[in-house]
Amino acid sequence: MYRPDPANPAARRPRLVVLLLVAFFALQLLVFLAFRGAPSPSSPDAAVDRVPVSARRDGEDSGCVGGLVYVYDLPPVFNEDLLALCEVLAPMYSLCPYLANDGLGFPAKGGNQSEFPPAELVGSWYSSDQFALEHIVHRRLLSHRCRTTDPARATAFFVPFYAGLAVGRHLWATNATDADRDRDCLALLLWLHAQPYYKRSNGWDHFIALGRITWDFRRSPDGGWGGSFLLMPGLANTTRLVIERDPWDAMDVGIPYPTSFHPRTAADVRAWQRYASSRSRPKLFAFAGAPRSAIKGDFRGLLLEECQAAGDACGALDCGEGRCIKQNELVMELFLGARFCLQPRGDSFTRRSLFDCMVGGAVPVLFWRRSAYRQYGWYVPVGNSQEEEWSVFIDRDELRAGNVTVRGVLAAIPEAKVREMRNRVVEMIPKLVYSAADKEGLGDGMKDAVDVMIDGMLRRAAEQRRSWRKV
Ligand SMILES: *[C@@H]1O[C@H](CO)[C@@H](O)[C@H](O)[C@H]1NC(C)=O
Ligand SMILES: *[C@@H]1O[C@H](CO)[C@@H](O)[C@H](O)[C@H]1NC(C)=O
Ligand SMILES: *[C@@H]1O[C@H](CO)[C@@H](O)[C@H](O)[C@H]1NC(C)=O
Ligand SMILES: *[C@@H]1O[C@H](CO)[C@@H](O)[C@H](O)[C@H]1NC(C)=O
Repeated sequence: MYRPDPANPAARRPRLVVLLLVAFFALQLLVFLAFRGAPSPSSPDAAVDRVPVSARRDGEDSGCVGGLVYVYDLPPVFNEDLLALCEVLAPMYSLCPYLANDGLGFPAKGGNQSEFPPAELVGSWYSSDQFALEHIVHRRLLSHRCRTTDPARATAFFVPFYAGLAVGRHLWATNATDADRDRDCLALLLWLHAQPYYKRSNGWDHFIALGRITWDFRRSPDGGWGGSFLLMPGLANTTRLVIERDPWDAMDVGIPYPTSFHPRTAADVRAWQRYASSRSRPKLFAFAGAPRSAIKGDFRGLLLEECQAAGDACGALDCGEGRCIKQNELVMELFLGARFCLQPRGDSFTRRSLFDCMVGGAVPVLFWRRSAYRQYGWYVPVGNSQEEEWSVFIDRDELRAGNVTVRGVLAAIPEAKVREMRNRVVEMIPKLVYSAADKEGLGDGMKDAVDVMIDGMLRRAAEQRRSWRKV
């Protein structure tokens, strides 16, 4: 660290003057360099030099210091038309009720049978489905204060293609071919690549949101499951915000699964935080899931056995037959009554249950780093042991070997530490939920999942911009 000589303060002054002069000329040089090769004003290239200036001015008005987002107006075949097919988008159930209310689903009824949801917050709870995420994010971005309808002023560009719905409707159809699963995606890329602002950056400042896990879009060239959207060369430079990312693909960014909590204001969130903090939690831990009895050595089966062995200390909910989606209030009741929740991998590494659990104020117990730490870096504190502030990690091999038990590990954590972790989880809730806020946002400077998404994407676009502007 630089420390001035206290005995001789006068000696510092000339040095300061020299420094200021150097800084002044450096600034002049930068300004000169930045404006030297300005292209013709009508091209999007010209707009790029004006972006930071006007964005900063908007930022002062609306709090969008990082810049503004442009939302493409796509041909309806890429989004609205898919919503109209809601009856046939998923194989087991109709998505229509879940796509209602701009994707939030049907409103919670609220009743006097259960404590949940508390009467004052009934209006913030819906019955939401992960597959509605693309619609939820789209609607919220359209009314976001950092949205601009002028692409010349935008720093980042959102492409509201409902790729999960488009691919999903062909995933199970036995007569559907690989070409069927990719047709909409190819058509979208054709459309996108013709847009002037896409061409300007080669897509580096563009992003898309996906309501299905990344593996549903990564069919291997020799065939197999899913579409191949995320492997298409035409999507290589576009950032994909996705509920489960491929940890080896830097263009995938993990975002929360939607829960059923969609608060309108910061006051709604605080009321919920108070409620979740004040609930008595008689169960040490809880597990909501469907074991795959057909799979030998299924880890979820092992956890269910642990739960049974723990007796009253554990609560379990069988999610078979879509129960945990259709009756999400049962899941929330379970987690609101438990101190910890178990989050093993399922068919993939991530689960919506992680977010239901944390919104319910229970501390998640993880068994795979890829279930959260390597997924949601924009949303949860990770690295430098920060994970330990809000979650417990148990070595699954030790558990399988019988060296430890879930109950043993969790019961050994002092009550004060459990309370500290729970407070941390409850504090994290706003960023994990998709608010039903209007243009003003939640208010009081509180950020929801979409605010975090926009901040992150604007940061990313600004970083990328430095490289594509050079070429
Ligand atoms: C509460 O539940 C009881 C029985 O289920 C019902 O008779 C009563 O009308 C309900 N009260 C309210 C306010 O909903
Ligand atoms: C698959 O079969 C269904 C029902 O017979 C039909 O409606 C649909 O168009 C077919 N899809 C394709 C891609 O051939
Ligand atoms: C991705 O970016 C690179 C370098 O900027 C460019 O050569 C390539 O054509 C871009 N791909 C697409 C699909 O835009
Ligand atoms: C379980 O404990 C045994 C005995 O201490 C040890 O040898 C073994 O490596 C442990 N297994 C795991 C997976 O840690």
